[in-house]
Amino acid sequence: MGDSSKLVQALKPFCENLRQIVESGKEISIITHLDADGITSGSIMAIALARMNAKCTVRTVSDMSQSVIEMMKSEDHDYYVITDLGGGMAANFRKALGDRWVVIDHHQIPEQEILTDDGGRIMNAWKYGLDGGIEVPAGGMAYMVASNLDRKNRDLSALAVVSAVGDRQDQGNKRSFLGLNQEILNMAKSLGLVSFELDLMLTGRETRPLHEALAYTSFPYIDGLTWNSSNCHTILKNAGLNLKDGGRWRVLSEFSQEEKSVVIDAISKYVVTSSKTSAGVIDDLVGYVYTLESEDRRSQLRDAREFSTLLNACGRIGKSGVGVAICMGDRNAMLTAGEQISTEYRTTLRNYISTIFNEKWRVNDDGKITIVNGDGLVAEDMLGAVSSLLSGSPSLPERLLFVKTLSKDSTYKFSSRKSLGCKSKANLGLIMRHCAEAVGGTGGGHAAAAGCRIPHTSLENFTSKLRAAVNDPGFQAA
Ligand code: C5P
Ligand code: C5P
Repeated sequence: MGDSSKLVQALKPFCENLRQIVESGKEISIITHLDADGITSGSIMAIALARMNAKCTVRTVSDMSQSVIEMMKSEDHDYYVITDLGGGMAANFRKALGDRWVVIDHHQIPEQEILTDDGGRIMNAWKYGLDGGIEVPAGGMAYMVASNLDRKNRDLSALAVVSAVGDRQDQGNKRSFLGLNQEILNMAKSLGLVSFELDLMLTGRETRPLHEALAYTSFPYIDGLTWNSSNCHTILKNAGLNLKDGGRWRVLSEFSQEEKSVVIDAISKYVVTSSKTSAGVIDDLVGYVYTLESEDRRSQLRDAREFSTLLNACGRIGKSGVGVAICMGDRNAMLTAGEQISTEYRTTLRNYISTIFNEKWRVNDDGKITIVNGDGLVAEDMLGAVSSLLSGSPSLPERLLFVKTLSKDSTYKFSSRKSLGCKSKANLGLIMRHCAEAVGGTGGGHAAAAGCRIPHTSLENFTSKLRAAVNDPGFQAA
């Protein structure tokens, strides 16, 4: 793991510059990505700046492109804080915005951008020897800036924990945190804001009846239980568990340790007797869960993973503002709106997935690489969510997965992931950037999750470059 001392050193002049911008009364536009990490990082900066009485607004976009940069230029704000976006695009910002911008990010950036003197404008994890794919997301980087601006912003560590699980950075043993994420988690814990413990990791552990939480859990995928709430009900009931408290269904977080052992035994027995799923899945059912102690019991915001899912839903369904308002503290109308958005998001995703598997022409699979065609079906902002979900599906294991859709502006947008059990060393972030740029598009991301946008006329050229690049040792992770 990297050591954060270089980052801490760089934060001082970076924050000093921001402080001067605020003190000189400049009006600041925060531009961020629309997923959970984007919404949390943008909100952390908005809260930190608002606490300094800065004039600022937050806007989300689905990715950073030349047209977004043109939009920023034409809106002509005094200053721009770009979070969770913009890796590799410093030269474009400089050209369009002069020195009126900073980037706070965690995506891998080209060596050239690390070496270029950008006047200290790029606060990127990789620049300071930290792996932005697993040690710190944009929310954690924004938290580092915020807590350096003012110690009282350390309460924002709880939002940084949400960003880390939202970005799937819980990659340590049993879904623990690594590196700087762990340091931020410890801060949140010492302030009494977040607790963590090893537990059953069911989806909706604070909000759903136990059998439904088990049915909603798609990682690990258990054939016969995932998506099948009546089977789940049967095995839990037969194990002698009390699923109701009076007339009300009990949620997982209300069950005792002994009862939870009974739940695990019941699932293990089912897995062994049905023999469709490997017994190893039981190991994946237990991991660290992160609880936001100041949120109400039975709220979707109490479990950090559920909180991040809700933010993702807001962003992907075009209602990022609701997510930002929730991060900024609204627990009334905006939370109710967020919960409705969450339901709508799950229904949409489920429809996409069933159409993709029903319409066979959409899936082009050679056993190593799968290209899923989402044209005319998948909304571009939902693309990342679809590829994340497909990558955990047992039907497409050990693959490099690429999902594409034709967007409203007639460009193709791609989202790629390494699927369950994938052993390929290919660095998808480097591959997406290289292949997209070679055909006049833009792209980037992480080794295990990346995306790009290309002109629609370049599709064939792009896919043939892609197939070559995945086997090219020059694009493998170190
Ligand atoms: O823009 P950003 O970095 O936040 O997007 C990361 C996306 O990639 C998230 O949707 C996250 O769920 C996904 N991801 C993943 N596996 C990883 C890292 C990230 O699926 N190892
Ligand atoms: O959209 P998706 O969730 O697949 O994005 C995965 C990763 O790829 C994210 O980190 C995102 O910021 C990055 N990406 C990018 N350029 C694009 C699209 C996605 O750098 N045009």
